[in-house]
Amino acid sequence: MRSVKVSLGTRSYDIKIATGLLVGLGTDCAALKLGQKCAVITDTNVAARYAKPALTSLKRAGFEAVLITVPAGETAKRLKQVESCFNQLAAHRLERKSFIVALGGGVVGDLAGFVAASYLRGIPFVQVPTTLLAQVDSSVGGKTGVNLAAGKNLVGAFYQPRLVLCDLATFRTLPEREFRAGLAEVIKYGIIYDASLFARLERDMAKILRRDAASLAHIVARSCEIKADVVSQDETESGLRAILNFGHTIGHAIEAITAYGRYLHGEAISIGQVAAAHLSAELLGLPAKDVERVRALFAAAGLPMSIKLNSTQRAKLLAAMTLDKKVSAGEINFVLAERIGKVVWGQRVPTAAVHRALDAIAPPH
Ligand code: NAD
Ligand code: GLY
Repeated sequence: MRSVKVSLGTRSYDIKIATGLLVGLGTDCAALKLGQKCAVITDTNVAARYAKPALTSLKRAGFEAVLITVPAGETAKRLKQVESCFNQLAAHRLERKSFIVALGGGVVGDLAGFVAASYLRGIPFVQVPTTLLAQVDSSVGGKTGVNLAAGKNLVGAFYQPRLVLCDLATFRTLPEREFRAGLAEVIKYGIIYDASLFARLERDMAKILRRDAASLAHIVARSCEIKADVVSQDETESGLRAILNFGHTIGHAIEAITAYGRYLHGEAISIGQVAAAHLSAELLGLPAKDVERVRALFAAAGLPMSIKLNSTQRAKLLAAMTLDKKVSAGEINFVLAERIGKVVWGQRVPTAAVHRALDAIAPPH
């Protein structure tokens, strides 16, 4: 088993990574010395596969565990579901010492984490992420929250879990498209922080796509180490944590103008990262061969690198970017790469340069 620590003083916690961890969920929770009652929050897809082993493990360890199931998909990340979870927790009389287990992908993790942050002004929670994206990104670092009609993740809290259990066996049932979308975040860690990880992904992509256990253990653990390192230095994104948003300025805008229905998050940020690489070449001198390597790696992972946009859609994309949190004084803030493995945040980019980067990912037609 690999273990990674997120160092945040009294709120520090471990991320455990191995195949088959779900059967030990109860024992791991018992070691945290939490209360006797807990609620497993999951979605319909994950419940069908993993609720039973999770509940069995918790009950064997002596916990009184109840199951709360929300619909699968992004639409579950809304206040109506938060209220429904609160009501179910109250009906089962969960108290301050009780805890929540978030069993699922990023949607369940964000929702259940926010429920844990706010029920009785905060009860402990444990993350059991079951998608690649959730294991390498959303379950680590304490960003929790839900969406409003006005936009994604507009209500939330920084609230750290007590433990993250990454059971690699859950990837066996993960659909191919979801798996590849998670790889977009792994590639991101290579670009922003670790040239050796990037090179390893170039070397091992075929094995990774075959879901080779040793390769997966390595990429999940290394991604978690990088995220833990960044979050430990800047928990609430006052600086360094912004580097995790590489490719997200354009990626989020792509998700917004396609009504969050056409691209998975990982797919949209793949296009966004390719655009950010082109911007980096123009503004920070990222070598052309590095831009090519970035393009080749996303292609090898089977991720999209371009989008068809007519002039109206392009205008909408630019408008969506300027609505993003990263805008100041009319210039859009980007994370840009100096080289593979080294990025800088807070780069103010003129609109004309953004247009040229869009030409690279959305050629005019
Ligand atoms: P998701 O949670 O919707 O899961 C994707 C799909 O896979 C769902 O249909 C789910 O039911 C299914 N699924 C999950 N695990 C499975 C498994 N092992 N086998 C079979 N099916 C399985 O999507 P996601 O990509 O995991 O997460 C996306 C969400 O994460 C977004 O809401 C995004 O905003 C959020 N996010 C949060 C952070 C953060 O720091 N908190 C970071 C990145 C993304
Ligand atoms: N996913 C970006 C962050 O956690 O900051």
